[in-house]
Amino acid sequence: MNNLEQLIAQATADFTAATGIARLEEVKAAYLGKEGSLTALLKSLGKLPPDERKTAGAAINIAKAQVESALALRREALKNAQLEAQLAAEALDVTLPGRGPIRGSIHPVMRTLDRIEQLFRSIGFEVADGPEIETDWHNFTALNTPENHPARSMHDTFYLLDAAGKVREDVLLRTHTSPVQIRTMLAHAEKYRHLDSMPEIRVICPGRVYRVDSDATHSPMFHQVEGLWVSENVSFADLKGVVADFLRRFFESDDLKVRFRPSFFPFTEPSAEIDVAFMHGPMEGRWLEIAGCGMVHPNVLRCGGIDPEKYTGFAFGMGPDRLTMLRYGINDLRLFFDGDLRFLSQFQ
Ligand code: FA5
Ligand code: MG
Repeated sequence: MNNLEQLIAQATADFTAATGIARLEEVKAAYLGKEGSLTALLKSLGKLPPDERKTAGAAINIAKAQVESALALRREALKNAQLEAQLAAEALDVTLPGRGPIRGSIHPVMRTLDRIEQLFRSIGFEVADGPEIETDWHNFTALNTPENHPARSMHDTFYLLDAAGKVREDVLLRTHTSPVQIRTMLAHAEKYRHLDSMPEIRVICPGRVYRVDSDATHSPMFHQVEGLWVSENVSFADLKGVVADFLRRFFESDDLKVRFRPSFFPFTEPSAEIDVAFMHGPMEGRWLEIAGCGMVHPNVLRCGGIDPEKYTGFAFGMGPDRLTMLRYGINDLRLFFDGDLRFLSQFQ
């Protein structure tokens, strides 16, 4: 019987030494398997004299039961340990701050457009808009730029192809927001046709425009905000006053450096371009052209259905992308349209 106790002790020790379920099953085979030592003992009972067989058999069966229960205990312990380890590995620290969804934000140029709209609305301007695929007539001809006029080459135009792949001559991607001047004047003149004297036009037209152009201050798709004020006795002084006041309010600065530089547009006379100096950033002190402007040419008023003998007007076409560069001190306008979140997320 001493033998059996030793065997139980050895089996229990071997089970304990097994540190995984797979190993435990191997150890089990050494005792309880077909070739196992307990199985061998049971098989050997047959060789004993009948009177000893009974007691020996009972003792072996008790030993076998003890080995089996030691095995079950160890198996249970290993399973628990495995579960504990898994729970520990997959533990959630509910006290950590949540990750949350990534927040989007308004694009910096859209912010500028909102701000421009707000400032012009506050001085009585309405907001108009027009198509991005524009007729050649609205984009050029009605703006005093007939076919073969050299000023047409001032704009590198994106043309459209017809179904046969031929360049269409009647429509194009608008190169500026100035065609909205024509659309606005025509609609206004029509609306007040029955009156001797029409109410004044005071609108801005923000929108996308397109040119074959790309460098640090030019993008092939960019934005413009057209401004148009037509009334009796509108003067260049009004243009200067409105634009200068707008810029001071836009940049929240009274000592903004602004200059009006004489220029040429077929649709205005006289004409000017407006420059603003960078106040901060890598371009500090450098001038950047932000708009073209001037007094609406009599031919343009006429194309808009408005009597140039009675009415005068000023117009401007500003680049809000450039205003955004100046406002945030950014030296390359194309950054706005690359869609790089590392850049855009700085404007949240
Ligand atoms: C015009 O487009 C005229 N239609 C402006 C105008 C309107 C004059 C009404 C008179 C009366 P210009 O090509 O200069 O002018 O463009 C106007 C402004 O748009 C520029 O001052 C600049 O701020 C912006 N701009 C022009 N080209 C680009 C470009 N490729 N990328 C970004 N901004 C541009
Ligand atoms: Mg210009």
